Amino acid sequence: MEITLNKPLDMHLHLRDNEMLKTVAPLSAKTFSSAIIMPNLVPPVTTIEDVISYKERIIEACGDESFDPLMTLFFKDDYSYDFLNSAKEHIFAIKLYPAGITTNSEGGVSTIDSETLKKTLEAMSELGIPLCVHGESDGFVMDREKEFVPIYEELATKFPNLKIIMEHITTKDSVEALERHSNLYATITLHHLLITLDDVAGGMLHPHLFCKPIAKRPEDRAALLKVALDAHPKVMFGSDSAPHPKHAKESCGCAAGVFTAPIALQVLVELFEKHDKLENLQKFISDNAQKIYNFKPCEKVVTLEKKSFIVPTSYNDVIPMYAGKEISWSIKSIS
Ligand code: NCD
Ligand code: ZN
Repeated sequence: MEITLNKPLDMHLHLRDNEMLKTVAPLSAKTFSSAIIMPNLVPPVTTIEDVISYKERIIEACGDESFDPLMTLFFKDDYSYDFLNSAKEHIFAIKLYPAGITTNSEGGVSTIDSETLKKTLEAMSELGIPLCVHGESDGFVMDREKEFVPIYEELATKFPNLKIIMEHITTKDSVEALERHSNLYATITLHHLLITLDDVAGGMLHPHLFCKPIAKRPEDRAALLKVALDAHPKVMFGSDSAPHPKHAKESCGCAAGVFTAPIALQVLVELFEKHDKLENLQKFISDNAQKIYNFKPCEKVVTLEKKSFIVPTSYNDVIPMYAGKEISWSIKSIS
């Protein structure tokens, strides 16, 4: 049994820099046509020069693979219209982080409301630059995303021409909010379709499944699964593959992030097959994102076959999700 996917896209990806970039970039570049690259480096990507040079380093790290990195800037509320106008041709979107809410987000925004962000968001609306958001409050960890929904709604209402992407949604509340605003969209990760908090902390603590936002309740996962498996037109795949070295994960003070890049396509096929929804995977993995962002990715055709594959236990010093486990689909060919 085989399935062919056209131009697979990862609309939320962390590639890091230096040695880590060299380890992980080729893995995404192999099976994805294109990906949105998150700007939370240390220091974050905040200038046009940063964007251009980071993009060059990514392309170099990808070697011979054909892969188009879609670059982002790290949101600052003092970006002027003129700056954004010059940045526009180099970026695909801007990523907003609440200050300190996740890995390398210390330089994020501390007050998120339509008044404080008005100048930048009006300029982005006018220039047609999409806003990607890490939507979590600083409240109780299980309620952070739910508490952020009213902020999404305020921004969506006050800036009706701004395309807002709720990144890596994990709750039923976020799925419901999508229906209320025509300019709200969402990415969904692989791991949030598979796990709940029980898999992270219900038994022995599982550091390689610890991420932000934390995996939620079974009913939340069910709501995410429903829209992903149906390829709801407002949702798209964004892995949020977020590599950290082994010592930063298997330590006292575990870094947040699940590394899924090398297994994402294979496990998505397994999941969609299990639910008898394989016919919707092409939309979830590419077509919806092309429509939402209105762009044409570069050509890449990936054929997968139903043949078991043992996930490597590590890629250099990064441990992937399902390390050492058997999955039922493999990459057969890529052209
Ligand atoms: C991401 C990272 O490590 O950069 N971590 C994570 O848990 N998802 C940041 C993010 O997307 O929140
Ligand atoms: Zn992320």
